[in-house]
Amino acid sequence: MINNSIKIVSVVTLITIISSGLTDYPGARIVLTQTGLDYLTEIGLPYLQSALDTTINIPDQSGEKFLIYYELSNIQIWGIHLKGLSAILGSNGLTLKGTDLSIKMRLDYSFTFLVIHESGSIEVDISDGDLSQTILAKRDENGHPILQSDGCAIHVSGVNLEFTGWLDGILNLISGILDDLVEDYLDNNGCSRLSSVIEDDLNPLIQTFQTEANIEEFIEIDYSLVDNPLFTDLELQVDLKGEFVSVKQYSVEPPFSAPPIPELTEFSRMAYLMVSTYTANTAAFAYQEEEFLHINIAPDTLPAKVDIPITTVLFQDLIPAFYNKYPDMNLTLNMYATKPPILKVTPGEARLQGSGIIEFAVYDANCDNAIVHAFSLEVDGSTEVEVGLKQVAGATNVTGKIESLDLEVSILDTEVGTINATKITDLIRLLGNSLIIPLVNSFAGVGWPIPAIDGIELEDTELILRNDYILIGTDVNYVPQQSNP
Ligand SMILES: *[C@@H]1O[C@H](CO)[C@@H](O)[C@H](O)[C@H]1NC(C)=O
Ligand SMILES: *[C@@H]1O[C@H](CO)[C@@H](O)[C@H](O)[C@H]1NC(C)=O
Ligand SMILES: *[C@@H]1O[C@H](CO)[C@@H](O)[C@H](O)[C@H]1NC(C)=O
Repeated sequence: MINNSIKIVSVVTLITIISSGLTDYPGARIVLTQTGLDYLTEIGLPYLQSALDTTINIPDQSGEKFLIYYELSNIQIWGIHLKGLSAILGSNGLTLKGTDLSIKMRLDYSFTFLVIHESGSIEVDISDGDLSQTILAKRDENGHPILQSDGCAIHVSGVNLEFTGWLDGILNLISGILDDLVEDYLDNNGCSRLSSVIEDDLNPLIQTFQTEANIEEFIEIDYSLVDNPLFTDLELQVDLKGEFVSVKQYSVEPPFSAPPIPELTEFSRMAYLMVSTYTANTAAFAYQEEEFLHINIAPDTLPAKVDIPITTVLFQDLIPAFYNKYPDMNLTLNMYATKPPILKVTPGEARLQGSGIIEFAVYDANCDNAIVHAFSLEVDGSTEVEVGLKQVAGATNVTGKIESLDLEVSILDTEVGTINATKITDLIRLLGNSLIIPLVNSFAGVGWPIPAIDGIELEDTELILRNDYILIGTDVNYVPQQSNP
């Protein structure tokens, strides 16, 4: 019986784990389009080219064919040259197709046929070759992207040794033998060179993909890959966690989950970043967890720019009884969010909604400046957020800016008699605009970095609001860093 219930519990746990796994949508997605991959292929061509530019020595060959005894020695392939390279997307990965592959080759030959003995050396130019190299992208155990070489083939259309004269017929027998040798050695040596470029040279660069960035001292954004990147005929999709975490409360999961990110339907730019509102909402959650959404104001802690007397004078007309009891005495305001603000994004607008409490207390000058609670207000507000981009030295941040708050005020409790919420609303708006807007803008104005790879700079970046996500379309420019290839 006990055993059974344990089983049931673990089945339930398992189902919970599986089902929560299924609903774990990414917070952000990077899409590389054909245009982007074409650009990266263009940059990659010289690297692949120089990797192929190598000498391959083929062991000496000897044997007998149709009574001809032959010896081939000092066989060398060199000067492998690739003219063009194109990137072909498919569900099996990215295939680089190289066309117009040409190579040079030389060898010494000697053969004996009955009493005839001949030897010499020849140089051959082989053209019309082609190359195909498939690249896969995976998620490594640390959530970084990693490339794998998967399937490579180099073909030459046939080694055609053209001899003249009476030797022609006999020597051309050797062409067939060389054909297979050349293909084999190109395949093995050329391909191992290519996979070394991809796995040994390119991966250190790919792995500079920034999976986390510090936002404030105690807040991080997590851009680690949630899955292996997905190749389709149109794009390479890289799904990222896109989640803010408060370092202190690392284990606290936000009480909401990411909505699915829709398929991209436009491919004109090199790359897109789709950031769901989930990312912004985990930011708000982390700021709330870290108690950043909390301001304590008193006359001596008032920001210098704010020109409002934080004294009971504010309420002289609005709550006369309060003023009369504590005339011209200093106030302290304790403002805090009661739950993390929520960002809603629609095509025309990004709107942040939040609610909080403002507690007013007075420094009672009649009583040694003892702090006496006066009243508390509940405030629901929303504001339009101007979402933007800030680019400095090749790095790009998504930023936000707010200008005015729509506030609704209700009275939560009062020790100072009846308060008319309608009358007090204008004052609260004034306080909100002076205190909350600079606070929000101080975080949002700095913004958060969008994930990057060393040396990849964004160009002509645009930001578009969509239903439940922000779409950032960009072209990229690769600026090699000193330590990179
Ligand atoms: C981008 O955001 C990060 C994290 O908030 C910040 O440290 C950095 O200074 C920002 N960059 C710019 C140019 O503001
Ligand atoms: C109110 O606070 C200011 C600044 O701290 C101080 O100079 C002033 O004396 C205070 N007023 C009263 C009535 O305590
Ligand atoms: C509150 O003030 C408004 C505007 O001054 C007024 O119209 C309303 O009647 C007042 N409400 C109460 C309950 O006194």
